[in-house]
Amino acid sequence: MATLARFAIGFDKRDVPRLHRYWDEILASERWTEGPFTERFEEAWSRHCGLPAVAFASWAGGALAALAYLVTLQAGARVELVDCNRTDLCVSFTDLQRAADQHRPAALWLVHIGGHLAFEVEQIAALCRDRGIVLLEDCAHAHGALWHGKRAGQWGDAGIYSFYATKTVSTGEGGMLVTPHADLTAYARKFRNYGKPDYAVHGLNYRMSEFTAALGVLATERLPEIVEYKQRVAAQLDAQYANRVRLPEGMISGYYKYIVFDKIPNSTGKVYDTPCHTILGQKADLPNTDWVAGHHWCVPIYYQTPTD
Ligand SMILES: Cc1ncc(COP(=O)(O)O)c(C=O)c1O
Repeated sequence: MATLARFAIGFDKRDVPRLHRYWDEILASERWTEGPFTERFEEAWSRHCGLPAVAFASWAGGALAALAYLVTLQAGARVELVDCNRTDLCVSFTDLQRAADQHRPAALWLVHIGGHLAFEVEQIAALCRDRGIVLLEDCAHAHGALWHGKRAGQWGDAGIYSFYATKTVSTGEGGMLVTPHADLTAYARKFRNYGKPDYAVHGLNYRMSEFTAALGVLATERLPEIVEYKQRVAAQLDAQYANRVRLPEGMISGYYKYIVFDKIPNSTGKVYDTPCHTILGQKADLPNTDWVAGHHWCVPIYYQTPTD
């Protein structure tokens, strides 16, 4: 297990020859952007997630599209922070109820932290439905996760994945927006491309290149294998670490991270050292958030390509 300590991209080296073939194809096609590989990646991710999917140059591009469409950022939204649970490190339903009564929010960002899904996602989604709150899921860590058969992005009005270099599977840079709203899909396609062709949407350039999308096609195919590998490693780690995130029955994590609550010598660092309210200089009473920021560490759990 020694090699697990060294950072490795979530990429299977057996896919290198296929990637080179795809890139040769793209070079010859004279279509380096807005081409068939972007469509293939979107179709593959859409099948994986069970929702229509739009590729972006980053998570941030997809998030801006969803915010602009569903929340109208220009309306001058104010951000209020909600505490997390110490169990799942995600939004606390109890604190959300308090914050929803106090602030009557238009939208909620639910960040699935660490590789599993927020344990209270069902209650959170029900509260959002009842109160007309737009639910945005940050799925940047949640590739391959399942909660009673549902994937990240399937509760919300939109879910956004990241394929940044450290993620469970990666395209170097990249993002994918998934949504059940057909209007948002159409909006997002224009948003990522300066609002073309009719400029009814105010967009910028958040397009994904075809070379990146080819990586995404391969990553989507390999994802189940990469997640299974990480689950096998996690099962071994479970025997070594008692004070850790414990998944409830029915939760399958993609193990972006393996998180423990004791300081360990081989930690790859924290998911986050500094909570958002500290970064923003806000005085907020978020005791669990402060506790988690100070008391979690990550055991190395990087995918290694099997060698025959
Ligand atoms: C939870 C979370 N959300 C969003 C992002 C941003 O993703 P991107 O770098 O693709 O914009 C990250 C990090 O990459 C993240 O960890």
